[in-house]
Amino acid sequence: MARVALVTGGSRGIGEAISKRLKADGYEVAATYAGNDEAAAAFTKETGIKTYKWNVADYDASKAGIEQVEADLGPIDVVVANAGITRDAPFHKMTPQQWKEVIDTNLTGVFNTVHPVWPGMRGRKFGRVIVISSINGQKGQFAQVNYAATKAGDLGIIKSLAQEGARAGITANAVCPGYIGTEMVRAIPEKVLNEVIIPQIPAGRLGEPEEIARCVAFLASDDAGFINGSTISANGAQFFV
Ligand SMILES: NC(=O)c1ccc[n+]([C@@H]2O[C@H](COP(=O)([O-])OP(=O)(O)OC[C@H]3O[C@@H](n4cnc5c(N)ncnc54)[C@H](OP(=O)(O)O)[C@@H]3O)[C@@H](O)[C@H]2O)c1
Repeated sequence: MARVALVTGGSRGIGEAISKRLKADGYEVAATYAGNDEAAAAFTKETGIKTYKWNVADYDASKAGIEQVEADLGPIDVVVANAGITRDAPFHKMTPQQWKEVIDTNLTGVFNTVHPVWPGMRGRKFGRVIVISSINGQKGQFAQVNYAATKAGDLGIIKSLAQEGARAGITANAVCPGYIGTEMVRAIPEKVLNEVIIPQIPAGRLGEPEEIARCVAFLASDDAGFINGSTISANGAQFFV
């Protein structure tokens, strides 16, 4: 029977590439999104992958949504906590609202996504938890105190979950993308992208969402069973841990 994979934020950007790749690898995939119905409908039309709408920052909505996915597709074997946002501002201008929105979505959202599936994974003695962190969680970034805090927090989450899940056949790992050509990055002013960001990437280009999806596909596979609590950096040689 096909394994079931849940990808939060799986309708656009990196998540879209992950959803497509996992489907191509034979998984039953459920992709979630927050509010962009049009993008989700176009994604389902193109891929045949069912989408579900809930806010990952809301625990009850996440739990209910996950129950619906499991009722539709069966128990979730692979969970990819990918949904994330930015609310950038230099620290002296960052508002408590900008801090809270990013913490609630990117960090609490990971808890809300993984916590409801964890007991089932423990019971079935198999699970793959993959969190999409960021290069900026590894090195910090100007105007991203909020975002970097969440992405560094992701690494604490997977290292702790790895220790708790190992004996139950569950692995928890992270992927830290560098700058990838999605709407999130295209929202950065072109001048900043071309004159500041790309020159810092030794590869001389943005990464492709599919390059992150391939990392996720590997971590989800049986081949990666002994890899637990690890981070794959995919950043074109921009930063080494
Ligand atoms: N792009 C990069 O260069 C880069 C680099 C490092 C790490 N990352 C990380 O990779 C992940 C994906 O980034 P991306 O660039 O692909 O983003 P994106 O293109 O902006 O897509 C974000 C996806 O997440 C969903 N989402 C956002 N907030 C949500 C919420 N509260 N509840 C449920 N779903 C929500 C969006 O749903 P809607 O379509 O409804 O808005 C969309 O499907 C993020 O965690 C990001 O931090 C990205």
